[in-house]
Formats: sequence, C-alpha cells, structure tokens
Amino acid sequence: MRLSVIGCGYLGAVHAAAMASIGHDVVGIDVDERKIASLAQGEAPFFEPGLPEILAEGIASGRLRFTTDMAEAQGADVHFIGVGTPQQKDGYAADMTYVNAAVDSLIPYLRPGDVVAGKSTVPVGTAAGLAERVTLTGATLVWNPEFLREGFAVKDTVDPDRLVAGVPEGEEGERAADVLREVYHPAVAKGTPFIVTDYATAELVKVAANAFLATKISFINAMAEIAEVTGADVTQLADAIGHDARIGRRFLGAGIGFGGGCLPKDIRAFSARAEELGRGESVAFLREVDAINLRRRERAAQLVVEAFDGNVFKKNITVLGAAFKPHSDDIRDSPALDVAVRLHGLGAWVTVTDPEALGNAARMHPQLNYVADRDEALRGADGVIVVTEWDEYRRELDPAHAASLATGRVVVDGRNCLDATAWRAAGWTYYGMGRP
Ligand SMILES: NC(=O)c1ccc[n+]([C@@H]2O[C@H](COP(=O)([O-])OP(=O)(O)OC[C@H]3O[C@@H](n4cnc5c(N)ncnc54)[C@H](O)[C@@H]3O)[C@@H](O)[C@H]2O)c1
Repeated sequence: MRLSVIGCGYLGAVHAAAMASIGHDVVGIDVDERKIASLAQGEAPFFEPGLPEILAEGIASGRLRFTTDMAEAQGADVHFIGVGTPQQKDGYAADMTYVNAAVDSLIPYLRPGDVVAGKSTVPVGTAAGLAERVTLTGATLVWNPEFLREGFAVKDTVDPDRLVAGVPEGEEGERAADVLREVYHPAVAKGTPFIVTDYATAELVKVAANAFLATKISFINAMAEIAEVTGADVTQLADAIGHDARIGRRFLGAGIGFGGGCLPKDIRAFSARAEELGRGESVAFLREVDAINLRRRERAAQLVVEAFDGNVFKKNITVLGAAFKPHSDDIRDSPALDVAVRLHGLGAWVTVTDPEALGNAARMHPQLNYVADRDEALRGADGVIVVTEWDEYRRELDPAHAASLATGRVVVDGRNCLDATAWRAAGWTYYGMGRP
C-alpha cells in the first residue's frame, strides 16, 4: 500500500521506516528541514535501537523517502498523523496547534476513499472534530493510537501487543478498519488483538493506559515515602506484592519516577480535558500521581544533600544518566536531568554522563558539565548518583572500580537499580529510594 506519515519524530520516523520494512511504499513528511535531510540520507535524527537499520534498508529498497513537501502525500491510501501534542506553555492541556496545522495542510491533497489515521495522543473529542473537516474531502478519519515504548519502538511498531482503531459508524468505518488491517497485515496475521471502537474510546484507550502506568509508578513511590519514615524496604515490598498476579511486578520500580515526552504531559492533558467535560473529579487522583512523581526528584536531590551533612556546595557530584529512561536519548521532562539541575542549583559541581543523551542534554542545560566517558566522569567525584538505569551503570559498573576513580564514597541510587550489598562491600555509603 502507499502510505504517508506526517510528523517524523520519535513516533513518526519509526512508523514510516517500520511500515516500509513490512513492504509498504512510504513517504515521511515533516516541517523540520534538518530532520528530513537527515532521514532522507538514512540517518536517524535520534537514538532508537534498530531504527538506523530499517531506515537504510527502506531507503535502499526505494520504498521509503522523506520530504518537507506536503503535496507528496497525494496518492497515498493511508495518511498517518504523528505530530507532537506537547503540554501547552501556560496550562495543563495539550497544545493542538500541530495536529490542526498538519490536518489543514493535508486536506487539499486528500482523495475520496483515502484513510487518515491519527496516531498522536489527543484529548478525547479531537477525532470527532477533525472528522468534520476530513469527511468533506470524501476521505475517512480513523483514530489509531500508538503504544510504542521508546527504546523498543521498532519492535513495538512492527509487532505491537494490540492495535486499536477508532472508526466512524457504519460501512465507512468498517471499510476503514479493513484498510488498517491491511496496513498492519503481519501483526494481524499472527493474531494480534485488533480492537475496533468509536473515536472517543480509541482516544481514551491511550490516555487511560498512560494514566494507569503513571499511577502504578506513583503508587510504589508513595509506598517508598512511607518506607522512608518506617525503615521498611520498598523493593522487597514491591517484590512481595508483585507476586500477586493481579498486581504484577512491572512498573513497580520505586525511584525518581517517570518522565519523557508522554506520561507527564498525557496525565496533565487528561486532567485538563476531564475538567472541560465537567468530570474533573473522576481523574483528580492524577494530580496526586503527578505530585508524588515530582516529589521523588526533590527527594533524590535531598538524599545527596543529606549525605554531605546538608551542604553540597562545591562538592563534585557525578550524575550517571540524562535520558528519561535507558535505551533512549530523549530528555523531554527527564527526571534525571531535573535532579542534576537541582544539585547544580544547590551549588554542587555537577558532571553528567550518559551513553546517548549528552547532546540533547547539553543543548537544553548548557550550565552543566558533560563528560561522555563514564569513567572520566567518575574521576574525582565526591559523590555519585544514578538517575537513569542504563546497563552501563546498573550491571557493568563494578563498585570497586568506581571506588578507584572517585574521591568520595557516597552513592545515591535514584533508580534502586544497584546491588546495594556489593556497593557497601566496596566501601560505599549507599542510599536508595525508600530502602534502608
Ligand atoms: N514518543 C513516544 O514514545 C510516543 C508514543 C506514543 C504516542 N506518542 C504521541 O505521538 C505524538 C508525537 O510524539 P513524538 O514523541 O514523535 O514527538 P516529536 O516531537 O518527536 O515529533 C513530532 C514531529 O512532528 C513534526 N511536526 C510538527 N508540526 C508538523 C506539521 N504541521 N506537519 C508535519 N510535521 C509536523 C515536528 O517537526 C516533529 O518532528 C505525540 O502526540 C505523542 O504523545 C509518542
């Protein structure tokens, strides 16, 4: 099939390349000239495992190309919309400027029978509004939320755990759902659940899933706060409750909490939308989820300060991690960088290292010191804090080796990902999040 993918960021670039990898003829379109120039040369403009390979393969096959010219969308059977929906600058709601602009610029090129598939995460009610405009061209709008995880985005796009299609009522909707089944043919053929809903349900599935995941993380972080005042160990608690199949251990890692370009802004946008709908109280708990999450960043910085008897002024603190999570270079709303910036604000000399995210981090926070090499970053440190659980720190950093580089022996485990016993045995004073 012929596909266009509008918006080639973390979602769209992967979607375009992944769709080409399963045999479609794809044009990726973005307003960002630098991003398109890089993609057109087969170079991924961000770090995502597996993306460089499918980009190169797609371009070499002739099935994948990139452009800034929206007119090139003309002739595609399905047009995916994957532009950003960030938090508004002056509020909690989603900024819909980019989605509206993308749809406006696509409309002149739509033909009767085309399918427009929204993938961006949007406030419930968006699709119904956009459909009024799209339908005038004879095209059909579907909402096809995306559940990919950065770091696993290629696999999640080609082989998702479920597909959701919000469609209009009647034959038009059924036909559009069939078109999407054809797009995702390998996943559909292997029996991946394909759930057809109305627009509102499809939009809500996405924000509900993210609200649930954020709540699960904040739940265990709330338990960490209680553990801190009682001497309990939140990691043992998580293990123990996680054995209950109804609860499950995943997303029960206490630490400095969630961040990134999705969870924080999605729960805020959900609250804002619920309030507009007169149901603010239904998701009022998400405000608390957000507040717990932000408190944990503060707590991690506080642990470092406490480790230095209340004063980190002119202490050399090495921050291991900058990305909001491992396997990504994404620093949007990164808890790791938040902690680094807080420590810098308290007068510490902060050195940040990360395997992939230093370029992005340095652009956003030029005031911090960045060192690419992990060991170099550790040299002379008075204290160390782990804020992104990359394998380079979690598994591969030997505490005795770290001790041979650092000057001090303070380690704060912001992700509860280190072997506390091994670090203590190597002479470190170990501080975890919600564990003694
Ligand atoms: N990143 C993820 O893991 C993920 C997962 C699921 C859903 N989503 C959702 O997908 C959407 C995109 O997220 P992202 O992380 O890819 O954002 P991003 O900022 O990386 O990418 C958005 C892209 O859209 C482009 N764009 C903006 N206006 C445009 C226009 N009018 N025409 C063409 N291109 C335009 C931007 O230049 C940018 O390259 C968001 O709604 C997000 O919530 C993201």
